[in-house]
Amino acid sequence: MNAIEKSLPDSSLSSRVQALELTAEGVNLLDQTALPLSVSYILIRTAQEMADAIETMLVRGAPAIGIAGAYGVVLSARAYFATDLSLDEMTEKIRQDARMLAQTRPTAVNLFWALAEMEKVLQSPVSIPAELLDRLTEKARQIHQEDINACLSIGKHGAAVVPQGAGILTHCNAGALATGGYGTALGVVRSAFAQDATIQVFADETRPRLQGARLTTWELVEDGIPVTLVTDNMSGSLMQAKKVDVVVVGADRITANGDTANKIGTYNLALIAHAHGVPFYVAAPLSTIDITMETGDLIPIEERSSDEISTVNGELLCAKGVNFFNPAFDVTPAKYIAGIITEKGIARPPYQESLAKLFSDK
Ligand code: MRU
Repeated sequence: MNAIEKSLPDSSLSSRVQALELTAEGVNLLDQTALPLSVSYILIRTAQEMADAIETMLVRGAPAIGIAGAYGVVLSARAYFATDLSLDEMTEKIRQDARMLAQTRPTAVNLFWALAEMEKVLQSPVSIPAELLDRLTEKARQIHQEDINACLSIGKHGAAVVPQGAGILTHCNAGALATGGYGTALGVVRSAFAQDATIQVFADETRPRLQGARLTTWELVEDGIPVTLVTDNMSGSLMQAKKVDVVVVGADRITANGDTANKIGTYNLALIAHAHGVPFYVAAPLSTIDITMETGDLIPIEERSSDEISTVNGELLCAKGVNFFNPAFDVTPAKYIAGIITEKGIARPPYQESLAKLFSDK
């Protein structure tokens, strides 16, 4: 992997922030582990490098890792296209790389959804390796573009739930950095801000990886949207002080009944919002909805290294010899969710019916 410094790309989106880009050389990933101190892009050249980048969270956020997975398959196809493998041999090698990409992070369903879309291309009739590479490239670019379009629609639908001059609280980073562009929860923020510059945005810092402090504040500042940073344990106090009118978060996987896995701490936030009568919304594209999974207790929850909670900047912050529990996500039961904002509109309870309808209308 090569680090290359580059200024933020101009974009036709209403966000200057772009997390990933497929080029002739490979995939440029904005290194999210380095933000906000350094804005640097890393050139990913192989499927293995892409798998490592997903696992180490150089790229993160459910839709973004789906797109990264699809681009990882393209990198695989490029590598095998350059050899003298037959079409069948090339297809099998690409499948092996797709399985490796699937081993990286278990919770966000977008990764598996995107890899399944790429598998459909592998199964489609093609006659020569060049055609297979073209089709895979076209499909991955389409997945990326459709995610951007979905975020723009989510923003439009979601802005309607944000009252004039509202305080909006969000958790983790569900922004341009976490998607193809524009963002889901932050797409709602961007669209609401475009209509009403008096809204107040609050970002939870999001222990332990600090996606709220490092990434959400950075991307909102980049786009000129004022944001107030709070620590995770301040949301109750903020709501008591009546500063929050609506909570909007992203999602990693939503099951058929509306239960939602998102960054650890989301469930706490939903309970506090419920206690204060503050509406709690989830913003996510249909690619985040796992309509085949019935309930949230079936969602595989990633556990990450204890280093994430035992140290800050490499310095130990607890006694040696303690035990750790570090789940990266939690599941918010559907009963605490006022609505699920998708590109097709806002699904309301009962989700079993409203989500199924979104899929049958597709
Ligand atoms: O561990 P991360 O940073 O990948 O977790 C990200 C989140 O939980 C986001 O809220 C979610 O993926 C939605 S991104 C639009």
